[in-house]
Amino acid sequence: MYYPLAKSLLFQLNPERAHDVILAAFKATGRTPVSYLYRQVIEHAPIHLMGIDFPNPVGLAAGLDKNGECLDAFAAMGFGYLEVGTVTPKPQDGNDKPRIFRLVDAEGIINRMGFNNKGIDHLIEQIKRSNYKGVLGINIGKNFTTPVEKGKDDYLICLEKAYPYASYIAINISSPNTPGLRTLQYGEALDDLLSSLDNKREELAKQLGVRKPLVVKIAPDLTDQELEQIADSLLTHHIDGVIATNTTIDRSMVEGMRYSNEQGGLSGRPLQMPSTIIIKKLHHYLNNQIPIIGVGGIDSAMAAKEKINAGAQLVQIYSGFIYRGPELIHQICQAI
Ligand SMILES: Cc1cc2nc3c(=O)[nH]c(=O)nc-3n(C[C@H](O)[C@H](O)[C@H](O)COP(=O)(O)O)c2cc1C
Repeated sequence: MYYPLAKSLLFQLNPERAHDVILAAFKATGRTPVSYLYRQVIEHAPIHLMGIDFPNPVGLAAGLDKNGECLDAFAAMGFGYLEVGTVTPKPQDGNDKPRIFRLVDAEGIINRMGFNNKGIDHLIEQIKRSNYKGVLGINIGKNFTTPVEKGKDDYLICLEKAYPYASYIAINISSPNTPGLRTLQYGEALDDLLSSLDNKREELAKQLGVRKPLVVKIAPDLTDQELEQIADSLLTHHIDGVIATNTTIDRSMVEGMRYSNEQGGLSGRPLQMPSTIIIKKLHHYLNNQIPIIGVGGIDSAMAAKEKINAGAQLVQIYSGFIYRGPELIHQICQAI
């Protein structure tokens, strides 16, 4: 109800400042009565997947609450699940500013944040401190200073630390803003990473007596052959789900627009169709063996339905949430 006003004020600020201001407000108010300003009652639309009960299929995509500092606020808005991160073993600043750009006419965003985050230990402290008891995904990555050949070690550190606190762990190998990261999506590098993470997960499952799902987040910029190989690797290494997709490096949908030549990943409405196409193909290659979490340009109930028709069983929103506000969660749940 208050979002149009909040948006008109926030859009006067540069995008990163707006992000910091709103997150500080959510952090300060999430556990207070002021949260009534954005609290919503969302119709129950339960779905059971990967051994998890989701109260509804609409999740917060990774990157908005990287440090897990606003869990109570996002829970109040009625998200069915929250994904925090991407988190790395050590804290890091990310790339130089400016590093987020709004393509307002296209309702798109370009970002090259570069995994700015306060590190896995800080994230876990925030989770412990929050009142949130709902479904929580922890999205993990590697530090900028870790060479990509050693990236596996960073993922293993994060997996071990995050495991007791996560409902599922998301392995992010698709951000375009960490040099070399996306090479982990291919061939031997992918098989090596996934088999190590699967082995570690089995070890942790035995130790803690609970097996947590591993999901992999992929890029939209993949050929059919690459996608088919990824699908094969996911199944071989007992991965439980796949998040499709991260942001794109393709600019053909926004050619000529202001900021379209900025480096980074493009999200929002221009990504809607490309990510749906990837989901459709992935659905074909996976043949219903593991679930797909659809993300990319969802800005309406119709766009969410398209992802589901393409083969997704859950959805996530980021840019649509920025342009449309918390009401979008309600609209999607009502329609599904
Ligand atoms: C500013 C910004 C930061 C992001 N940071 C992350 C991140 O840290 N980890 C990640 O897996 N995805 C990250 N993403 C990607 C989103 O989670 C999502 O996959 C992508 O934006 C497509 O969804 P959308 O069109 O609804 O935004 C980020 C996106 C944006 C716009």
